Amino acid sequence: MDVRLSVIDKRLSNVKRIISVASGKGGVGKSLVASSLALSLVKKGYKVGLLDLDFYGPSSHIILGVDICGFPEEEKGIIPPIVSGIHFMSVVYFTEDKPSPFRGVDISNIIIELLAITQWGELDYLIIDMPPGTGDETLDVIRLIKRSEFLVVSTPSKVAMGAVGKLLTILKELKLPVIGVVENMKMTESNYVNGIVSKMGLSYLNSISFDNNLEDSIGKPDRLLETCFMKDLNKIVEKIR
Ligand SMILES: Nc1ncnc2c1ncn2[C@@H]1O[C@H](COP(=O)(O)OP(=O)(O)OP(=O)(O)O)[C@@H](O)[C@H]1O
Ligand SMILES: [Mg+2]
Repeated sequence: MDVRLSVIDKRLSNVKRIISVASGKGGVGKSLVASSLALSLVKKGYKVGLLDLDFYGPSSHIILGVDICGFPEEEKGIIPPIVSGIHFMSVVYFTEDKPSPFRGVDISNIIIELLAITQWGELDYLIIDMPPGTGDETLDVIRLIKRSEFLVVSTPSKVAMGAVGKLLTILKELKLPVIGVVENMKMTESNYVNGIVSKMGLSYLNSISFDNNLEDSIGKPDRLLETCFMKDLNKIVEKIR
Protein backbone atom coordinates (compact mmCIF):
# COMPACT_ATOMS: atom_id res chain seq x y z
CA MET A 1 0.00 0.00 0.00
CA ASP A 2 1.23 3.49 -0.88
CA VAL A 3 0.84 5.68 2.21
CA ARG A 4 0.84 8.77 -0.01
CA LEU A 5 -2.62 7.80 -1.32
CA SER A 6 -4.27 8.37 2.05
CA VAL A 7 -2.51 11.75 2.34
CA ILE A 8 -4.02 12.97 -0.96
CA ASP A 9 -7.61 13.11 0.33
CA LYS A 10 -6.41 15.01 3.37
CA ARG A 11 -4.48 17.52 1.27
CA LEU A 12 -7.60 18.24 -0.81
CA SER A 13 -10.07 18.15 2.09
CA ASN A 14 -10.39 21.96 2.29
CA VAL A 15 -10.91 22.44 -1.44
CA LYS A 16 -14.60 23.02 -2.19
CA ARG A 17 -14.66 22.15 -5.90
CA ILE A 18 -12.11 20.42 -8.12
CA ILE A 19 -12.52 20.98 -11.86
CA SER A 20 -10.33 19.03 -14.30
CA VAL A 21 -10.15 20.65 -17.74
CA ALA A 22 -9.78 17.71 -20.10
CA SER A 23 -10.15 16.65 -23.73
CA GLY A 24 -9.70 13.50 -25.73
CA LYS A 25 -7.69 15.60 -28.20
CA GLY A 26 -4.53 17.69 -27.98
CA GLY A 27 -4.21 21.35 -28.88
CA VAL A 28 -7.88 22.25 -28.45
CA GLY A 29 -7.26 24.95 -25.82
CA LYS A 30 -7.40 23.07 -22.48
CA SER A 31 -4.53 25.07 -21.00
CA LEU A 32 -5.94 28.39 -22.17
CA VAL A 33 -9.36 27.48 -20.76
CA ALA A 34 -7.87 26.21 -17.45
CA SER A 35 -5.64 29.27 -16.87
CA SER A 36 -8.33 31.73 -17.96
CA LEU A 37 -10.94 29.99 -15.82
CA ALA A 38 -8.62 30.33 -12.81
CA LEU A 39 -7.99 34.03 -13.59
CA SER A 40 -11.68 34.71 -14.08
CA LEU A 41 -12.66 33.06 -10.78
CA VAL A 42 -9.95 35.02 -8.91
CA LYS A 43 -11.33 38.23 -10.44
CA LYS A 44 -14.75 37.27 -9.08
CA GLY A 45 -13.29 37.03 -5.57
CA TYR A 46 -12.80 33.27 -5.20
CA LYS A 47 -9.76 31.53 -3.73
CA VAL A 48 -8.40 29.48 -6.62
CA GLY A 49 -5.65 26.92 -7.22
CA LEU A 50 -4.30 25.83 -10.61
CA LEU A 51 -2.46 22.54 -11.06
CA ASP A 52 -0.75 21.86 -14.40
CA LEU A 53 -0.48 18.09 -14.87
CA ASP A 54 0.56 18.10 -18.53
CA PHE A 55 3.90 16.28 -18.60
CA TYR A 56 4.33 16.49 -22.35
CA GLY A 57 3.70 20.19 -22.79
CA PRO A 58 3.18 22.02 -19.49
CA SER A 59 2.01 25.46 -20.55
CA SER A 60 0.05 27.17 -17.74
CA HIS A 61 3.26 28.88 -16.59
CA ILE A 62 3.79 30.25 -20.10
CA ILE A 63 0.19 31.50 -20.38
CA LEU A 64 0.37 33.19 -16.96
CA GLY A 65 3.95 34.42 -17.42
CA VAL A 66 5.29 32.55 -14.36
CA ASP A 67 9.06 32.67 -13.89
CA ILE A 68 10.04 29.10 -12.90
CA CYS A 69 13.19 29.55 -10.88
CA GLY A 70 13.85 26.96 -8.20
CA PHE A 71 11.43 24.87 -6.23
CA PRO A 72 8.54 26.48 -4.30
CA GLU A 73 8.85 27.07 -0.57
CA GLU A 74 8.63 23.93 1.58
CA GLU A 75 7.07 23.57 5.01
CA LYS A 76 5.70 20.09 5.74
CA GLY A 77 4.99 19.93 2.03
CA ILE A 78 5.12 22.39 -0.85
CA ILE A 79 3.33 25.70 -0.63
CA PRO A 80 2.10 26.75 -4.10
CA PRO A 81 3.38 30.23 -5.02
CA ILE A 82 0.69 32.81 -5.72
CA VAL A 83 0.73 34.05 -9.31
CA SER A 84 -1.80 36.66 -10.49
CA GLY A 85 -3.83 35.75 -7.40
CA ILE A 86 -3.79 32.03 -8.29
CA HIS A 87 -2.22 29.36 -6.03
CA PHE A 88 -0.06 27.78 -8.71
CA MET A 89 1.55 24.35 -8.94
CA SER A 90 2.96 22.65 -12.02
CA VAL A 91 4.84 19.52 -13.04
CA VAL A 92 7.30 21.98 -14.52
CA TYR A 93 8.77 22.46 -11.02
CA PHE A 94 9.75 18.77 -11.23
CA THR A 95 10.81 18.68 -14.86
CA GLU A 96 12.49 22.12 -14.77
CA ASP A 97 11.05 22.80 -18.23
CA LYS A 98 13.38 20.24 -19.82
CA PRO A 99 11.97 17.64 -22.23
CA SER A 100 10.79 14.82 -19.96
CA PRO A 101 10.76 11.33 -21.44
CA PHE A 102 8.77 9.75 -18.59
CA ARG A 103 7.21 6.32 -18.71
CA GLY A 104 3.67 5.74 -17.44
CA VAL A 105 4.79 4.47 -14.03
CA ASP A 106 7.07 7.50 -13.50
CA ILE A 107 4.23 9.83 -14.40
CA SER A 108 1.89 8.08 -11.95
CA ASN A 109 4.52 8.43 -9.25
CA ILE A 110 5.04 12.12 -9.89
CA ILE A 111 1.29 12.78 -9.91
CA ILE A 112 0.92 10.93 -6.59
CA GLU A 113 3.91 12.77 -5.13
CA LEU A 114 2.66 16.16 -6.33
CA LEU A 115 -0.83 15.56 -4.91
CA ALA A 116 0.58 14.21 -1.65
CA ILE A 117 3.00 17.06 -0.94
CA THR A 118 1.14 20.14 -2.18
CA GLN A 119 -0.45 22.15 0.62
CA TRP A 120 -3.41 23.82 -1.07
CA GLY A 121 -5.02 24.91 2.18
CA GLU A 122 -8.53 26.34 1.82
CA LEU A 123 -9.67 26.88 -1.76
CA ASP A 124 -13.03 27.54 -3.41
CA TYR A 125 -11.78 25.97 -6.65
CA LEU A 126 -8.87 23.84 -7.74
CA ILE A 127 -8.56 23.85 -11.53
CA ILE A 128 -6.50 21.06 -13.11
CA ASP A 129 -4.95 21.50 -16.55
CA MET A 130 -4.97 17.95 -17.88
CA PRO A 131 -2.75 16.35 -20.50
CA PRO A 132 -4.49 15.35 -23.74
CA GLY A 133 -6.15 12.02 -24.28
CA THR A 134 -7.40 9.18 -22.17
CA GLY A 135 -4.04 7.76 -21.15
CA ASP A 136 -2.49 6.95 -17.79
CA GLU A 137 -2.47 10.52 -16.47
CA THR A 138 -6.19 11.04 -17.10
CA LEU A 139 -6.95 7.68 -15.48
CA ASP A 140 -4.66 8.58 -12.55
CA VAL A 141 -6.54 11.81 -11.91
CA ILE A 142 -9.83 9.90 -12.01
CA ARG A 143 -8.43 7.31 -9.57
CA LEU A 144 -6.61 9.67 -7.22
CA ILE A 145 -8.87 12.72 -7.10
CA LYS A 146 -12.23 11.20 -6.43
CA ARG A 147 -14.11 14.48 -6.11
CA SER A 148 -13.10 15.92 -9.48
CA GLU A 149 -15.70 17.27 -11.90
CA PHE A 150 -14.77 17.42 -15.59
CA LEU A 151 -14.95 20.36 -17.95
CA VAL A 152 -14.35 18.98 -21.43
CA VAL A 153 -12.95 21.07 -24.29
CA SER A 154 -13.35 20.38 -28.02
CA THR A 155 -13.01 22.34 -31.22
CA PRO A 156 -15.74 22.38 -33.89
CA SER A 157 -13.79 19.76 -35.88
CA LYS A 158 -15.22 16.29 -36.44
CA VAL A 159 -11.68 15.00 -35.87
CA ALA A 160 -11.50 16.56 -32.41
CA MET A 161 -15.05 15.53 -31.53
CA GLY A 162 -14.23 11.92 -32.47
CA ALA A 163 -11.62 11.75 -29.71
CA VAL A 164 -13.59 13.94 -27.30
CA GLY A 165 -16.61 11.64 -27.73
CA LYS A 166 -14.47 8.72 -26.49
CA LEU A 167 -13.44 10.63 -23.35
CA LEU A 168 -17.06 11.63 -22.70
CA THR A 169 -18.16 7.99 -23.06
CA ILE A 170 -15.49 6.88 -20.55
CA LEU A 171 -16.49 9.59 -18.07
CA LYS A 172 -20.17 8.67 -18.47
CA GLU A 173 -19.51 4.95 -18.05
CA LEU A 174 -17.54 5.66 -14.88
CA LYS A 175 -20.47 7.83 -13.73
CA LEU A 176 -18.16 10.80 -13.19
CA PRO A 177 -19.59 14.32 -13.05
CA VAL A 178 -19.20 16.08 -16.41
CA ILE A 179 -19.95 19.79 -15.97
CA GLY A 180 -20.26 20.16 -19.72
CA VAL A 181 -18.50 20.69 -23.03
CA VAL A 182 -16.87 23.91 -24.25
CA GLU A 183 -16.56 24.33 -28.03
CA ASN A 184 -13.38 26.35 -28.52
CA MET A 185 -11.94 28.15 -31.59
CA LYS A 186 -15.33 28.44 -33.26
CA MET A 187 -15.18 30.23 -36.62
CA THR A 188 -18.46 29.42 -38.35
CA GLU A 189 -22.03 28.66 -37.34
CA SER A 190 -22.61 24.94 -36.81
CA ASN A 191 -24.64 22.81 -34.43
CA TYR A 192 -22.46 19.74 -34.91
CA VAL A 193 -20.78 19.66 -31.45
CA ASN A 194 -23.92 20.80 -29.66
CA GLY A 195 -25.87 18.01 -31.39
CA ILE A 196 -23.48 15.24 -30.34
CA VAL A 197 -23.17 16.51 -26.78
CA SER A 198 -26.94 16.83 -26.38
CA LYS A 199 -27.48 13.33 -27.83
CA MET A 200 -25.17 12.00 -25.12
CA GLY A 201 -27.39 13.66 -22.52
CA LEU A 202 -24.59 16.05 -21.53
CA SER A 203 -24.51 19.82 -21.24
CA TYR A 204 -23.17 21.99 -24.10
CA LEU A 205 -21.94 25.02 -22.18
CA ASN A 206 -21.06 27.52 -24.89
CA SER A 207 -18.64 28.26 -27.68
CA ILE A 208 -15.51 30.41 -27.56
CA SER A 209 -14.74 32.15 -30.84
CA PHE A 210 -11.33 31.91 -32.49
CA ASP A 211 -9.52 34.99 -31.20
CA ASN A 212 -6.92 36.36 -33.64
CA ASN A 213 -5.35 38.54 -30.93
CA LEU A 214 -5.04 35.85 -28.25
CA GLU A 215 -1.35 35.14 -28.91
CA ASP A 216 -0.43 38.74 -27.97
CA SER A 217 -1.74 38.19 -24.44
CA ILE A 218 0.07 34.90 -23.73
CA GLY A 219 2.28 35.48 -20.68
CA LYS A 220 0.37 38.67 -19.81
CA PRO A 221 -2.54 37.80 -17.49
CA ASP A 222 -3.76 41.42 -17.33
CA ARG A 223 -4.16 41.47 -21.11
CA LEU A 224 -5.67 38.00 -21.19
CA LEU A 225 -8.45 39.27 -18.95
CA GLU A 226 -9.37 41.85 -21.62
CA THR A 227 -9.53 39.47 -24.63
CA CYS A 228 -12.58 38.32 -26.63
CA PHE A 229 -11.55 34.80 -25.54
CA MET A 230 -12.10 35.82 -21.90
CA LYS A 231 -15.41 37.51 -22.74
CA ASP A 232 -16.72 34.23 -24.18
CA LEU A 233 -15.21 32.21 -21.34
CA ASN A 234 -16.88 34.43 -18.72
CA LYS A 235 -20.30 33.37 -20.06
CA ILE A 236 -19.26 29.78 -19.33
CA VAL A 237 -17.94 30.73 -15.88
CA GLU A 238 -21.35 32.23 -15.04
CA LYS A 239 -23.00 28.89 -15.92
CA ILE A 240 -20.68 26.68 -13.89
CA ARG A 241 -19.68 28.59 -10.75
N1 LIG B 1 -10.14 30.56 -28.94
C1 LIG B 1 -8.87 30.59 -29.38
N2 LIG B 1 -8.53 31.47 -30.38
C2 LIG B 1 -7.26 31.53 -30.87
N3 LIG B 1 -6.26 30.73 -30.44
C3 LIG B 1 -6.54 29.84 -29.47
C4 LIG B 1 -7.85 29.72 -28.88
N4 LIG B 1 -7.82 28.75 -27.94
C5 LIG B 1 -6.55 28.31 -27.90
N5 LIG B 1 -5.78 28.94 -28.81
C6 LIG B 1 -4.36 28.70 -29.12
O1 LIG B 1 -4.23 27.35 -29.53
C7 LIG B 1 -3.03 26.79 -29.05
C8 LIG B 1 -3.33 25.54 -28.22
O2 LIG B 1 -3.95 25.93 -27.01
P1 LIG B 1 -3.63 25.17 -25.66
O3 LIG B 1 -2.17 25.04 -25.46
O4 LIG B 1 -4.42 25.83 -24.59
O5 LIG B 1 -4.25 23.74 -26.03
P2 LIG B 1 -4.15 22.39 -25.19
O6 LIG B 1 -5.41 21.65 -25.44
O7 LIG B 1 -3.82 22.69 -23.77
O8 LIG B 1 -2.91 21.67 -25.88
P3 LIG B 1 -2.15 20.36 -25.34
O9 LIG B 1 -3.03 19.21 -25.72
O10 LIG B 1 -0.86 20.38 -26.10
O11 LIG B 1 -1.99 20.49 -23.86
C9 LIG B 1 -2.31 27.88 -28.26
O12 LIG B 1 -1.39 28.50 -29.09
C10 LIG B 1 -3.45 28.83 -27.90
O13 LIG B 1 -2.99 30.15 -27.75
MG1 LIG C 1 -2.21 22.00 -22.53
